[in-house]
Amino acid sequence: MDIKKLVRKNILELKPYTSARDIYEGDGILLDANENSFGSTFTEIEGLNLNRYPDPHQNDLRKIVSEYLSVSKENLFFGVGSDEIIDLLIRIFCEPGKDNVIIPEPTYGMYKVASDVNNVAVNDVLLTDDFQIDFGEIEKVYNSNTKIIFLCSPNNPTGNLLSKKDVAALCEKYNSIIVVDEAYIDFSLDGNLLEELKKYNNLVILRTFSKAWGLAGVRLGYCIADKEIIDVLFKVKAPYNINTLTRYALAKAFMNSNVKDEYIRSIIKERERLKNQLETLNGVEKVFNSDANFLLIKCRQPKEVQKKLMDKGIIVRDRSSQPKLEGCLRISVGSQEENDLLWDAIKKIL
Ligand SMILES: Cc1ncc(COP(=O)(O)O)c(C=O)c1O
Repeated sequence: MDIKKLVRKNILELKPYTSARDIYEGDGILLDANENSFGSTFTEIEGLNLNRYPDPHQNDLRKIVSEYLSVSKENLFFGVGSDEIIDLLIRIFCEPGKDNVIIPEPTYGMYKVASDVNNVAVNDVLLTDDFQIDFGEIEKVYNSNTKIIFLCSPNNPTGNLLSKKDVAALCEKYNSIIVVDEAYIDFSLDGNLLEELKKYNNLVILRTFSKAWGLAGVRLGYCIADKEIIDVLFKVKAPYNINTLTRYALAKAFMNSNVKDEYIRSIIKERERLKNQLETLNGVEKVFNSDANFLLIKCRQPKEVQKKLMDKGIIVRDRSSQPKLEGCLRISVGSQEENDLLWDAIKKIL
């Protein structure tokens, strides 16, 4: 697919911001960026040089993650959370007031919010009853101005993986960017789409450090995609989008990645324990299978249940107003102690 044909004309023609350090790397007498050469007011962490702007090419982050995933550095781009990348993709490919995106619902709300912010029309279509891609529905709304189809696997809030074959078929069929958000992929035993990237240059995989890695406060996400797409992302991003403290945190986290693996094992174990418990309750009509770090449950009076839990200081998400999610609450899998407290509370309510 010719990616350039999908990119907005003004972005193709854009001359990106440049800095002197695009042509100079290394230590020197840095008098090019109006920084404070005397030092920083925050000196708690030695060697961080917070008085200097960070590397705009994201070389440190790209090196760490390319080794971790065995993908090339040139296929990686980092954003301030994956939310920033969602916004950038819309800005790159969608002409405001003219182009549109397709968002199969129910799914994560930010794809629609980012489209609305950018004045890009959203074609809401529904997933099937088992929350898979409905090709008929997509075909009905797809047109030559459809630039992006947003998918999420495992899907938030339904928790299921999308069929890999279906995603591949969409990439094959449509001359558009297919974004697959894999924010929760670490909690699934199978199902990531890295292999498919080799076949489809219109596929973009989104990942985040906010979930399994426990770094939601750091705000770091990334995408893996064809070099042509990555190059345009670099062109449009704010020059220094990923700050030095975030980079420091990521490098330290990777020295500790066995802890992440331990978290994943514990969360999956707790997820299954909680699922088994909830399934015994008469008031719970269904507990959906989950490949993520949350459970979706269906009950008779979700708003009341949410309110009663909140009165006990337990906060869960009411998703019952989303299409196909009548009666549904989404419950994040907590620590063992939190899940015990939730269980004590909810069994009394239901
Ligand atoms: C599917 C999905 N994608 C992305 C995000 C946000 O990721 P980040 O924290 O990297 O912006 C979330 C957060 O809940 C999510 O559910």
